[in-house]
Amino acid sequence: MNKALDLNTQNIEDFVTDDEIAGLQSEVSRCHKDLEEGEGRGAEFLGWLHLPSVTKSEELTRIQKSADWIRDNCEVFVSIGIGGSYLGAKAALNFAGSDVSKSFSPSGGDSPHILFSGQNISSDSLHDLLESLENKKFCLNVISKSGTTTEPAIAFRFLKQFMEKKFGSEEARKRIFVTTDPDKGALRQLTEEEGYPCFEIPGNVGGRYSVLTPVGLLAMAVAGMDIAEVIAGARDCEQSVTQNSSLDQNLAYRFAVIRNLLYQKGKTIELMAAFHPALQTMVEWWRQLAGESEGKEGKGIFPATAEYTADLHSLGQWVQEGNRIIFETFLRVATSNHPLEVPESPDDRDGLNFLAGKTLDEINEKAWQGTALAHLEGGVPNMTLTVKDRSAHTLGYLFYFFQRAVAMTGYLMNVNPFDQPGVEFYKTNMFRLLNKPGYGKEK
Ligand code: PA5
Repeated sequence: MNKALDLNTQNIEDFVTDDEIAGLQSEVSRCHKDLEEGEGRGAEFLGWLHLPSVTKSEELTRIQKSADWIRDNCEVFVSIGIGGSYLGAKAALNFAGSDVSKSFSPSGGDSPHILFSGQNISSDSLHDLLESLENKKFCLNVISKSGTTTEPAIAFRFLKQFMEKKFGSEEARKRIFVTTDPDKGALRQLTEEEGYPCFEIPGNVGGRYSVLTPVGLLAMAVAGMDIAEVIAGARDCEQSVTQNSSLDQNLAYRFAVIRNLLYQKGKTIELMAAFHPALQTMVEWWRQLAGESEGKEGKGIFPATAEYTADLHSLGQWVQEGNRIIFETFLRVATSNHPLEVPESPDDRDGLNFLAGKTLDEINEKAWQGTALAHLEGGVPNMTLTVKDRSAHTLGYLFYFFQRAVAMTGYLMNVNPFDQPGVEFYKTNMFRLLNKPGYGKEK
């Protein structure tokens, strides 16, 4: 496989015709123009669109310098954030590492152990984190565009106080890295008062489109990943998608169109299933990107995720024979970093000698093909996205591919893919129940 990413749509042909796809070309071209010319909904948040091409090498050098300092001075790096200020970095580290248990240290023993905090309101998890940091040299990266999100703000208050007590305020100021809006928010103000090293999330880049800013790049660099290659991969995708909006050539738009057509035909759930453990968090990142971008105004595909083959032994039953309102997208990687062959066994007591000499990649490929066919026969249209490898370049390509596909899907559905007004409702109720000033009395 030469190209970074391939889209196989063979298994949707019984559900969506070529004519139907081609029939949406003029609509896609109009949405493409809206994106490029900033004339569509949410145009004030299009900073991500050409971000890979405008990212300056000086910015990457600055991130790398901080990462080098962190690598030299910390055993543990705690990234504090939620939603778009968290999932991209986690997906990247998982992509580079071999599985979730090792995902936070892709370059091995030299990298600090990377932990995440601020994604829940749990005493136990915060307690356990503080306890694990007791005898460790650690750094914090607090990431919040708004600077006011409750979950990471609570975690940061605890961790900041813990750090100041352990290292003293002056040393803490060197160990706290802030990633926030360039101009506004409580975190911006605190950063200016304390003089913390700070990275900016461009004002016109929303949370879930921010993985290719310091939001994602600092943790990747701390983990030893080549962030210039990540940006180069994203730039390759950006350029190819920008140059040509034809549905025969532009895979991101073709993917978006097929998702929309399936949705119009009553397939309201998309299950994105990762066929490699290193893609497990990538599909979670995608779930947030798609869910927050498309689910509004009574519309939107419900994005669900699974890890295959593990979930074939749980959700697989539902997918094969449950309510026929679902389609699937499989996410695969073409080659493993370390291909293993099944060994021969002299007595074959486990009956597996028919697999001896085959690589696990070959067996996994057959599992994918068998699943795709079975689910198709069960009435579940499915597509497959295959990435070439797990390089930094491919990672950047994939992040950008999904961003562009989701933005196009949103425009085709005529929603604003860059806002998330629905997220405020739970916050308002929670603040009212907690008697936050300005939110009225508990009812
Ligand atoms: O995509 C989004 O905008 C959200 O998911 C945000 O990233 C999330 O709510 C965190 O927001 P903030 O970075 O302001 O703390």
